[in-house]
Amino acid sequence: MKAMSKTKERMLRVDQAGEYGATRIYAGQLAVMGSRAPHSAEVASMASQEAEHQAKFDAMIAERGVRPTLLQPVWSAAGYVLGAATALIGPEAAMACTAAIETEIDRHYTEQLEELGDEDPELGATIRKFRDEEREHRDAALAAGAEKAPAYPVLFNAIRLGCRVAIKLSERI
Ligand SMILES: [Fe+2]
Ligand SMILES: [Fe+2]
Repeated sequence: MKAMSKTKERMLRVDQAGEYGATRIYAGQLAVMGSRAPHSAEVASMASQEAEHQAKFDAMIAERGVRPTLLQPVWSAAGYVLGAATALIGPEAAMACTAAIETEIDRHYTEQLEELGDEDPELGATIRKFRDEEREHRDAALAAGAEKAPAYPVLFNAIRLGCRVAIKLSERI
């Protein structure tokens, strides 16, 4: 096995962490919303895609011998609480959470694709596919009324900021 560059190790570490965090956010939302709330079906379908994303990165870090982030327990709790809290505010706030997270993840994956170039076709194709699916999640959340959430700009920017901090930490720790 070819040694992985530090850069690519970081990419895989943060991406696995992020997809894991996403599954926890949706688990928290669904725990509050159940299956009958407005937008429950959208959340459930996004959650199942996040589970596929996570499974793929789980497999890739195992195959390539990349250490997962030590912050996994933190993201487990923080993701779940963020999901549950936004769902408790209401269905639009739950959608605002997705819009904010996926806006940041789109930016993050797009930056990674630029950095990667054509260096690692397997990783590049994976990131591109997931990036496109995250864009669909963002658009679905906006279409479902994310911007009608109470204090939307504050909520949106706070969650984006939290997401950026989580990305920075998970690359390194
Ligand atoms: Fe994802
Ligand atoms: Fe997503």
